[in-house]
Amino acid sequence: MKPARESWTTKLAFILAAAGSAVGLGNIWRFPYVVGENGGAAFVIVFLIIVALIGLPLMVTEITLGRETKKNPIGAFKALAPNTPWWLVGAIGVLAGFVILSFYSVVAGWGISYFFQTVTGSLTEGTDFEAAFFDHVGQGFAPVAWHALFMALTGLIIGLGIVKGIGRAVRYLMPVLFILIIMLVIRGVTLEGASEGLQYYLQPDFTSITWQTWLDAAGQAFFTLSLGMGAIITYGSYLKKDDDVPGSASWIVGLDLLIALLAGLAIFPAVFALGFSEADGPGLAFITLPAVFAQMPFGMFFGAIFFLFFSVAALTSALSLLEVVVAWLVDEKEMSRPKASALVSFGIFLLGIPASLSMGAVDIQVMGMPFFDFLDYLQETFLLPIGGLLTLVFAGYVFTASKTRESANENSTSFKLGVWFEWLIKYITPAAVVIILLAGLFL
Ligand code: TRP
Repeated sequence: MKPARESWTTKLAFILAAAGSAVGLGNIWRFPYVVGENGGAAFVIVFLIIVALIGLPLMVTEITLGRETKKNPIGAFKALAPNTPWWLVGAIGVLAGFVILSFYSVVAGWGISYFFQTVTGSLTEGTDFEAAFFDHVGQGFAPVAWHALFMALTGLIIGLGIVKGIGRAVRYLMPVLFILIIMLVIRGVTLEGASEGLQYYLQPDFTSITWQTWLDAAGQAFFTLSLGMGAIITYGSYLKKDDDVPGSASWIVGLDLLIALLAGLAIFPAVFALGFSEADGPGLAFITLPAVFAQMPFGMFFGAIFFLFFSVAALTSALSLLEVVVAWLVDEKEMSRPKASALVSFGIFLLGIPASLSMGAVDIQVMGMPFFDFLDYLQETFLLPIGGLLTLVFAGYVFTASKTRESANENSTSFKLGVWFEWLIKYITPAAVVIILLAGLFL
């Protein structure tokens, strides 16, 4: 017999789990370097506009579809539109979960390794951090082993289920996350010379905004909010009918923005105060930051705190990526949860191996880029925007916008969505995503 489907034990459990999904490497690793590559404060403003226009409406829509159907993404589309090909949108999501987690786990593995290396002193004040980074990711064995450890941990928690696994993990980890980031912000803004970084981060120069800025902001919004692949549909499916959708969605988006903005506040003052370049791209977290820490009093202590923060945030996000695939196998294929979790974790571990090796150990290229970059390109340019767009079209025209709004408003204790919400998800949000998709293909 199939065990009953679980649900979150409290309202807070859902918000913490979904915020845990959202807050991750997207906030700590990606957001600061995308801001750095796009000229600072002006990018932050464009990003906030995109979050309001695309992120929040899609967040509400995904939670609603999940709560309405109580199913994994494929099952959710099947339940609302039986005998149509709409389930394929859910299938894109399951595929995206697999793809994203395979390289996400590799980066998370670097983070864990850096935590241990800072604690044990093999990364220290005198290290050449650039050489150390390329040396680390370019090794064959070590990064793959850390990736394996991270996937094993993620698989273990997901195998325990919604209440005993995800719910319990986020209840302890999310407060830890918050304390760690506050420590880092205080350290950053109290450094001598921090004001130049603050200015860069907080004073917009609007002439620096281009099409590429909007494109990067949209890619960042999908990724950081965990949207476009049914992760939030899945988490929403464990809600009870009497939970508040518009209120929870606002909390989740708000917490994710807060942590991203705080991460910038922790990083930019330090980068500027110590004379580093803000535009160091993906290496910002692993090369620039350790070098920054090395120059601060008690720097390696704060370095360890940073990489602990990094690893914990990655873990609570990875849970949601794995859960999408596992929920599909449990709901639709009647597989037992521990078995599904073990099987999928192992599969993702395997796909992550070439991703990890392509960072320097072995020359593995697809479409002229390292396999690792190819996976990231795949999710950013196609999987998430197309998944998000089709989800909106489904909610707006197949399930219908009025029913989506009605369902989202049901039992809401905070505020109710007005008719404007129907306009948003029918016209404005999909149009914004289409423009961005086209710009991504042709720019
Ligand atoms: N949002 C997470 C981050 O910022 C990553 C993540 C978790 C994600 N689940 C997702 C990204 C689903 C896209 C889709 O690190």
